[in-house]
Amino acid sequence: MFGLSATPVTVEADVSSGLPRFQIVGLPDAAVSEAKDRVRAAIKNSGFPFPRTNVTINLAPADTRKQGPLYDLAIALAILGAQGTIINPKVLDGTVVIGELSLDGTIRPARGVLLASSMAKREGYSGVLVAEENINEARLVEPLQISSARSLKDCIDQIEIGKWRALPVIIDLDNAPSIAPVHDRGDDFALIAGQLHAKRALEIAAAGGHNILLSGPPGSGKTMLARAFATLLPPPTVDESIEITSIHSIAGLLHGKRITNRPFRAPHHTSSGIALVGGGTQPRPGEISLAHRGVLFLDEFPEFSRSVLENLRQPLEDGTIVVSRASGSVMFPARFMLVASMNPCPCGFISDPGIACTCTPGNILKYQQKISGPLLDRIDLRVEVPRVAFDDLSSVTPGESSAAICKRVTDVRNVTQHRYAAFGIFTNAELKPALMKKWCTLTNDGMALLKSAVDRLHMSARSYGRILKVARTIADLAQEEAISAAHLAEALQYRIRNA
Ligand SMILES: Nc1ncnc2c1ncn2[C@@H]1O[C@H](COP(=O)(O)OP(=O)(O)O)[C@@H](O)[C@H]1O
Ligand SMILES: [Mg+2]
Repeated sequence: MFGLSATPVTVEADVSSGLPRFQIVGLPDAAVSEAKDRVRAAIKNSGFPFPRTNVTINLAPADTRKQGPLYDLAIALAILGAQGTIINPKVLDGTVVIGELSLDGTIRPARGVLLASSMAKREGYSGVLVAEENINEARLVEPLQISSARSLKDCIDQIEIGKWRALPVIIDLDNAPSIAPVHDRGDDFALIAGQLHAKRALEIAAAGGHNILLSGPPGSGKTMLARAFATLLPPPTVDESIEITSIHSIAGLLHGKRITNRPFRAPHHTSSGIALVGGGTQPRPGEISLAHRGVLFLDEFPEFSRSVLENLRQPLEDGTIVVSRASGSVMFPARFMLVASMNPCPCGFISDPGIACTCTPGNILKYQQKISGPLLDRIDLRVEVPRVAFDDLSSVTPGESSAAICKRVTDVRNVTQHRYAAFGIFTNAELKPALMKKWCTLTNDGMALLKSAVDRLHMSARSYGRILKVARTIADLAQEEAISAAHLAEALQYRIRNA
């Protein structure tokens, strides 16, 4: 497995006379080499003889690096086959074998089984053999013959009988309760008093898949609003859900169920670069990929280390992250909505009309410089979240519910998903320049407003594109074909405001 792609590896064993020796060739990494000790112990502890001669394992193709312990079971079966312990090896024909062995011969679950079984189907294999814990995950790919064993001994017993044991039936996989990667779905919007401006911006972000930065004094409700954002999002489409599930599979975070809601990831500001963007010797997806098709919430945005934040620039632009390793570079999807929150200055009150700011100008500058211009440029909506007025807080009339807003968001997402179906994208935020020409038509007054804005505000080409996309979403919320001056004006005000 490399990134989100998997290729089949053929495991060959040769048992020949000679001095006792056990070697694995074909670019194994340390974890694969350690398979020697696990496999030897597992075979002996399962009551089978281990060859007292020369054993060579070849992993083909020899030029791709093999990583991780998932070859253990295949290696053990190859050795047992080569020395004649398996009398009925035909049962294994066309089967992809994935499993780690423990010293007592138990088959342990592997990560990335969903990817491996998709690969098996694509490459024309008839089935996969996995640990019991991985059955459900393997089952997400149909129609594939899934077989499973508890231990090496159990596996050999089934092969001797000549057929695999029937597996437990799960009636309705898609409707089985999914392990939601949503940590905390947050409050309903109805419970949040006032903040109509911020709520409107969050609705636009949800409908178009845009990024948003909430800025305001401490205690104004930024964290509360950001967490509530998750309640505005409709469930992912089937295609999106498969993308989300594959990423969680490769990260080893899947427990055999398709993920049917959008992730909400809220990493702490002390998170390392690798935790956030992914990496490691055996590259794994980071928070930004686990948030794919969902929300990445970075609370206290300026507290994250600047170098970590700069890593977000590429994924914010492309929706993917490329992690470079000695063994090559791996690409993971990372199409997330960034929701960030920050105080406008270290004390937080610079924008507050009622409370005096106690920061020195130098401190304010230093604080704001933690977020670079290019990074800020990639945030479509910047909203001020002021302290809530007493009248709003004490008001007994509830605000609009999340369900009502989610309905409008869903309508827009249905429209855009349909509109862009031929281009492999789902939301307005994903529009590329060529598609923007086609789908972002302006009315005459809209054109005039945009022209004066670009000229007077010295806007970059990126700002121009991002404003147009947000305006497209605002027009879609109003169910209008063409983008008018009113839609643009609203999109512009989220940009100009200096967060
Ligand atoms: N608009 C609001 N309506 C109701 N409660 C609010 C509102 N804003 C803030 N609160 C209350 O104040 C607490 C602190 O808000 P929080 O979101 O943590 O503020 P911030 O992140 O801006 O510092 C929340 O847990 C909530 O109880
Ligand atoms: Mg907060």
